[in-house]
Amino acid sequence: MNTMKSFTTITAVVIGAAAQVANAQGFVSNCTWQTGFMSDNYLGMYCNNNNWAEYSYDWTWLDTNVCLTNYGGKLYPYASGSYWSTCGNCAVRGSNVDFILTCDCLNGQGRFASTTYDLNRVIWNHDGFLGCFNHIGNKTEKGPF
Ligand SMILES: *[C@@H]1O[C@H](CO)[C@@H](O)[C@H](O)[C@H]1NC(C)=O
Ligand SMILES: *[C@@H]1O[C@H](CO)[C@@H](O)[C@H](O)[C@H]1NC(C)=O
Repeated sequence: MNTMKSFTTITAVVIGAAAQVANAQGFVSNCTWQTGFMSDNYLGMYCNNNNWAEYSYDWTWLDTNVCLTNYGGKLYPYASGSYWSTCGNCAVRGSNVDFILTCDCLNGQGRFASTTYDLNRVIWNHDGFLGCFNHIGNKTEKGPF
């Protein structure tokens, strides 16, 4: 089956990617994680700029599809992931130390089951832009609220 084949070939890459992000990326420390929510695969929230004088919070959107992959029903950080094609029904729950994404993802048994990943370990804030690996989101002064 094609799907299983591609799962196998990316295993080594996933392990490499996981090592790269072993250090916490830590956006919860300088974003207002309380404002964060998922709109389909897009994560939005207010984050600090480097220049605090230039008013502290801007709204940023990041397509999380490029940050994670679904490997056999579990989410892993992956620089060209595309978990969204086999996951859905995602929600987030933040705190001062983590930002847990929960989704229903297709597993090896061909069923959708709930799985989680701490987005704080893969997503960063650089000058008010959320990003992961070398992917960067966008930023606007006007958030949804
Ligand atoms: C947010 O925190 C991270 C980790 O401490 C740091 O690398 C980054 O530069 C900070 N960004 C801003 C905009 O303060
Ligand atoms: C930022 O990205 C979101 C999601 O793709 C999009 O809806 C929005 O229009 C973009 N905003 C700007 C300022 O580019």
